[in-house]
This record gives sequence, structure tokens and C-alpha cells, in this order.
Amino acid sequence: MRLEPFELERIQSEWEHVIDINLTESGVEPLTISDLIPDEETQRKLIETKLAYSQTNGTVPLREAISGMYQGADADNVLVTNGAAEANFLTIWNLLHEHDANEIVVMFPNYMQIPGIIKGLNGVVSPFHLEMEKGEWIPDLGGLESAISKKTKAIAICNPNNPTGATFGPTYLKAIAEIAADAHLWVISDEIYQGAELDGKLTPTMFDYYDKVLVTSSLSKVYGLPGLRLGWVVCSSKPHVAELWSYSDYTTICPTILSDTLATIALQPELRMKILTRTRKIVKEHWDIVRKWLDERSGIFEYVAPKAAAICFPRHNLSVSSLELTTRLLKEKSLLIIPGEHFGMPMHLRIGFGYEEDHLNAGLSRLDEMIKILK
Ligand SMILES: Cc1ncc(COP(=O)(O)O)c(C=O)c1O
Repeated sequence: MRLEPFELERIQSEWEHVIDINLTESGVEPLTISDLIPDEETQRKLIETKLAYSQTNGTVPLREAISGMYQGADADNVLVTNGAAEANFLTIWNLLHEHDANEIVVMFPNYMQIPGIIKGLNGVVSPFHLEMEKGEWIPDLGGLESAISKKTKAIAICNPNNPTGATFGPTYLKAIAEIAADAHLWVISDEIYQGAELDGKLTPTMFDYYDKVLVTSSLSKVYGLPGLRLGWVVCSSKPHVAELWSYSDYTTICPTILSDTLATIALQPELRMKILTRTRKIVKEHWDIVRKWLDERSGIFEYVAPKAAAICFPRHNLSVSSLELTTRLLKEKSLLIIPGEHFGMPMHLRIGFGYEEDHLNAGLSRLDEMIKILK
């Protein structure tokens, strides 16, 4: 296995704790431990937790809380992982064990982890694209059908989508499910941004539309808890979940006991709703700021409004590439933004707007300063 550099994560790893302003985050301002457990008695209990190995596939209460979000699932349909990153990794690693079925059809643009892992495991990435129709990003279903071959093992989608913030409802999910069923394929549905919708309506899960689906997700984005490194895979086949569990024996063994405990608390229905309400408020208010900023610069930027997630993906017509622009922003303005090139779409920028408002405004001002220099 030889992995190519994961550009987006590398640039964040190298710079996010060094520069002044980071507009690369796709989640919202993180919560604190005391936001999750304000009362002293529970805090005391947490402090007294023995730092032992935890139940390796996630404790039963945590898996019950997760399975409660997927109709018909119970704790045995869930494997808890270290972030959605591990959930995606185990899922792909497990699927790509047959030499004559080593192709996965992947939605583009996308978070580039899944394509990177497929290539690293000597698999083949067969792309299908989102296309623009009536000012919206929609999956090119004809393109999806023609991307499937005899060697295809699965279709990988990301809904809500990173980097566009587009969401795909029942019509598209049913159509993708039908295409997958006809070709006897798995669907991997990365739903990490489900719950961060601007209109407050939960994006439907592929779990409701297809049996052979592996849904991956985590608490990193919508729940503002990326530091817990707590993710999951949900699948209606319990033997398949058990098989994935045995793969995690080779990666991280278990989630940390503190993360498992705090995640169980965060996912209790009342607190979960409170967290989602906070997230949607941040996403909506901050998107208003970014939208206004983009509209005032309509000669430079065009965009499709995101439907979910604290990200937008505008296209610009500046005289430099996005890679050059973001490199200059980093060096000259101590501002980090992800260039479209890292999603295979040059002349775009992925702007993350979920962190503090002052931070966002300061970042946009520095971007403005650079645009003035370039003009
Ligand atoms: C679509 C998508 N999937 C997975 C991940 C990884 O998330 P986690 O922090 O839960 O590992 C990210 C992170 O940005 C993402 O955007």
C-alpha cells in the first residue's frame, strides 16, 4: 500500500495551528467538555474515570444512541470508530479485497480521503460528477451508470456534499439505490454533514433507501466535537459490521473511553437536538455574512448557495489560480483557505465559515486585501 499525499489534510495539519486565521474548517466552533456536562456531579464522575481500554466496537449505550438515529437499526448494526476517517478507511479496506472487483465509483467533487485510499490499495477510482442544473448541484445519474463496470464493487457518495454543501433528497437517493441494486453494488454514504442544514430539515439517510449501504459519519462537524475523534459505520448487515470490527483490531483497537462516554452524553435526544439547533443557527447566520460578502463582489465570484455544512464553494475569475491565491494568502496574510485544486476543481475556493464570527469577518477582510493587490 502506497498512499499519495492527502493535500487537504496535509495543508491543514501543517498550518492550522500556526496561522492567524483559519477558514478551512467545515464544522462549527467546537464545544467544551463543560458544555456537554455542566453539572459538577457528572464532571466529578468523568474525572474519576479509569483510563482503561474501552469496549472496542463502542459501548452498548453509545451504539444504542447511534443506532437510534437509523430506523430499524440496533446496537449490533453499529461499529464505533476513531472519526469518520477511520470509518471510511475500514469500509474501503474491507471492500477492496477481491482483485477482479477492485473498482469503486466515486462522486466528485468530494472529500478526497476515499479516492486516496482506493488508489493506495491498488484499486480503481471511477468518477461520476455533480453537475449544475438550474443553479443547483445534482448527481449526473447517466454518468453514474456509465461509470459502472464488471469490476465495480461499490458506489461512494457524500451527502450533504463536501465541498459544495449540496444535499440530495429522496428522488436522487432512490435513483442511486436502484442503479446500485441493478449492478449488485454496495453504496458507501458519507453523511458526516447530516444535521447542519440551513433550512433545519434533516437530509435523508441512504440507510432508509438501500439495504446494502454502509453509512459513515461522526461527531466532528455537526456536533462541534472533532477532538473526540468519534465516528461510526452503520450497516443493516450485522455480519458485515462484525467483519469491519475485526478490521479495526488492526487500526486503532478502540475509541478512547473518554470519547465514548462524552459521545454517549452528546447523543442523548435532548442534548443532541440542542447541539443541532446551535449548529444550524451558526451555519445560517454565518452563511448570511458570506453570502452578502460574495454578492458585493459578484464581478469576481459566482456561487451555488450551500444547503448544509459550514462551507461554500465559490468560483472566482481572478488572474491567478486558486492554488497560487491560497499560497499567497497563507504567506502574506496568514490566512488559510482550501484551493479548489484539492477537490479537482481549479478556480474554486472552499471557504469554511463555522468558526467565530469575528474570525470569519477578519478572514474575509484579508481575502479582500489580497484581491485588491491582484486587481
Ligand atoms: C466528507 C468527510 N468525511 C470524513 C471526514 C473526516 O472526519 P473525522 O474528523 O470525523 O474523521 C471529513 C473531514 O473533513 C469529511 O469532510
